[in-house]
Amino acid sequence: MDTTSMLQVSNLTVQFGSLKAVNNVSFEIQRGEIFALIGPNGAGKTTAFNAISGLLFPQAGQIVFKGTDITKLMPHKRCKLGMARTFQVVRAFNYMTVEDVVRVGAYNRQGEDTVAAKVDQMIELCGLGEVRQRVCGDLGLATLRRVELARALATEPELLLLDESGAGLNTAELASFMDLLRKINREQNITLCIVEHLMQMVMGLSQRIVVLDSGEVIATGTPHEISNNQKVIEAYLGKRVTQC
Ligand SMILES: Nc1ncnc2c1ncn2[C@@H]1O[C@H](COP(=O)(O)OP(=O)(O)OP(=O)(O)O)[C@@H](O)[C@H]1O
Ligand SMILES: [Mg+2]
Repeated sequence: MDTTSMLQVSNLTVQFGSLKAVNNVSFEIQRGEIFALIGPNGAGKTTAFNAISGLLFPQAGQIVFKGTDITKLMPHKRCKLGMARTFQVVRAFNYMTVEDVVRVGAYNRQGEDTVAAKVDQMIELCGLGEVRQRVCGDLGLATLRRVELARALATEPELLLLDESGAGLNTAELASFMDLLRKINREQNITLCIVEHLMQMVMGLSQRIVVLDSGEVIATGTPHEISNNQKVIEAYLGKRVTQC
């Protein structure tokens, strides 16, 4: 693994009125790794993703991506720099075909002459060949998760943020989705940051984990360290593991 810094989040604070949804949070993601952000409902994970991807601006703190301060950069500029994300609630383009959705992503970087090749490549990578002409409104959740992934990958990210992309998948779908993410990480050399409640996915994929609770970092470590951390077990894992 290349150990240069991909993303540095320093003292990030995002406030909604008097609620500090993200409170003085710092962590660093290294190039090439699979990093996980976990914690109970309402811990601030999606809010942190929103600040990192530029959907909202933080009240305090700094976000540095590949050495550039992007704290106040608009989302499309972050995308151009090599960052992409998926959303917790699948934002299906109901009336668009799978290939058109992927094309939207591809146009971010490709011109007319190369966009079709990029779409083909991402559809193949994400196993969407059989449904490429179908409209998204007709597809099940597992396929839509792959469409979202293909759309994000078509923007050619170096860092991909995935917000609960395993949620709602059955055991076989999840195993196959995890294989795809490993492949993307290893073969396409894309750094992944996953927000996830599914411990099978977190522990099976990630090399390092940061745990948020009520907007604050309560632990950072390897899957082994996190699963044995008493504070994390009390705040989150104990409860969660019994649900897995
Ligand atoms: N736009 C908003 N306006 C006001 N409060 C918000 C807004 N977005 C999030 N919050 C609040 O901020 C806190 C953190 O929410 P967030 O969605 O980041 O949590 P999360 O860790 O992603 O939770 P989950 O695991 O349920 O997805 C919650 O208390 C939530 O109600
Ligand atoms: Mg969330």
